[in-house]
Amino acid sequence: MSRHAFAIGLSIALSGLVSTAAYAQEPASESPAETARLEYEQVMTLTPDLENGRKVYLTCAVCHRPEGWGAPDGAYPQIAGQLRTVIIKQLADIRARNRDNPLMYPFSVPRILGGPQSVADVAAYVAQLPMTPENGVGPGVDLPLGKDVYTEHCSKCHGENGEGNEAEHIPAIAGQHYLYLMRQFDAIRTGRRKNSDPKMVKQIDGFTPLHQAAVLDYTSRLRPPESKLAETGWTNPDFPAYVRDPMGVPPMPPMPAGLLEAPASAEPPAYPSVPPAR
Ligand code: HEC
Ligand code: HEC
Repeated sequence: MSRHAFAIGLSIALSGLVSTAAYAQEPASESPAETARLEYEQVMTLTPDLENGRKVYLTCAVCHRPEGWGAPDGAYPQIAGQLRTVIIKQLADIRARNRDNPLMYPFSVPRILGGPQSVADVAAYVAQLPMTPENGVGPGVDLPLGKDVYTEHCSKCHGENGEGNEAEHIPAIAGQHYLYLMRQFDAIRTGRRKNSDPKMVKQIDGFTPLHQAAVLDYTSRLRPPESKLAETGWTNPDFPAYVRDPMGVPPMPPMPAGLLEAPASAEPPAYPSVPPAR
């Protein structure tokens, strides 16, 4: 073989290697938004298995609580009763890094959460959980202003009663913790939340802090339908052995299953990687 032919052969072999290696890490070089959109479409074709959803949910329960009610201080959102399509879209966005969530990201990746079927399963499980009757609300001043702003600027997308829109995967926002609503609204307004709706960003452009607080206070007080609410004090019977706040110390997230297993290949594990600094 001439030197020249050898060099060509070697470069072909190398380029094959390089592209195989790239493929092993990421299915394709789409944008995060496109990766998430494709996964969403795929998940929507699957039939959910609630029993497996319950098992997958064990990981989520540590942060979102066994009831899916999150925390009134807004650190963790209530996800119970959220529309199934919204949960699927947010999970797909978070694990494609189309929505930054450094805390949850390592638990959302396929190696830990599972593939599209697990997303379908856990989303169906979460969607059917009854919601808290006692979510965190705002200070209760300016509610008439909040109602006016809501009717004019929000109801056409999020629904008259904050019920969201299943087909358009627009989140239900009624009964969400006020402080979580504030945090997300800020993230959407400032562009920090990458997956936000450009039409919403335009709609809320120029809102004063007074308008924002008033409309989100009103939103947090919108009552989901009675059929979606739990009784006060309800605990999720699917997790009878769950120890809530032992000695007042909230539990830490579990070590994701499989993290300690030796990687199958000599390659470093693709997940979880260190979340990007904000
Ligand atoms: C380590 C803690 C943690 C774990 C484990 C976790 N999450 Fe989250 N999750 C969060 C935090 C924090 C947010 C809010 C992030 C933000 O402020 O943008 C969130 C947001 C979400 C949202 C978006 C809610 C919304 O309305 O904006 C969904 C849906 C969700 N999580 C579902 C899940 C599911 C399903 C699981 C289990 C597979 C899970 N989470 C596991 C911490 C966690
Ligand atoms: C043009 C339609 C549209 C309008 C108008 C709109 N939104 Fe939204 N909003 C959306 C969509 C779509 C999302 C979800 C984007 C995504 O993550 O996929 C969203 C997300 C949100 C979220 C985050 C919810 C969550 O669970 O993470 C909040 C809070 C919110 N909107 C509040 C409001 C309020 C309050 C108003 C009125 C002042 C408003 N929106 C007006 C479409 C709209």
